[in-house]
Amino acid sequence: MPETLPEVLISEEQIKAKVDELARRISADYREVDDLILVGVLKGSFIFLADLARRLTIPRSVDFMALSTYGDSTTTDGAVRMILDLRRNISGKHVLVVEDIVDTGHTLAYLVRALAARQPASLKTCALVQKPDRREVYAQIDYLGFEIPDVWVVGCGLDWAEKFRTLPYIGVVHPEG
Ligand code: IMP
Ligand code: MG
Repeated sequence: MPETLPEVLISEEQIKAKVDELARRISADYREVDDLILVGVLKGSFIFLADLARRLTIPRSVDFMALSTYGDSTTTDGAVRMILDLRRNISGKHVLVVEDIVDTGHTLAYLVRALAARQPASLKTCALVQKPDRREVYAQIDYLGFEIPDVWVVGCGLDWAEKFRTLPYIGVVHPEG
């Protein structure tokens, strides 16, 4: 079956400008910090994290976690499970969690709880997009790219059944056809 490209919701140019702006804000806020640990959440954050990390002007390092939510691909029941942990001990370190998307908020809330328990010097969060209408639990986003309506988006790391992750823009898919 031929694949039609998802319609554009946020263009490549808009994303680039936003990543630049976020990188400037983060670099300014952490200018006194000598090692900011960016914690990317696999797989979705890998492209946003790579773009953001390369634009920061402060010393930084990168580590990853992978989480899984039980249930099917387009719904989240709130049960989050860690399937890959950080390599580094973050105790006493400055940590910035980098997420692709915040939907119900369960994933980010879980992450913040899990990482805060390790007593980092500071812990903040960054997300490329969020869907405010879908929020079920509170999760603070300190650096946010875009707010979007309740649609399924792909591109920039975001997938629909593993498809479209490497699309350079954020597009909308309509799973019902
Ligand atoms: P949460 O509901 O905030 O816990 O988000 C759970 C995860 O669902 C996110 O990290 C994404 O991997 C995925 N997700 C939620 N909405 C979308 C979307 O529109 N496109 C692709 N992935 C999504
Ligand atoms: Mg994610």
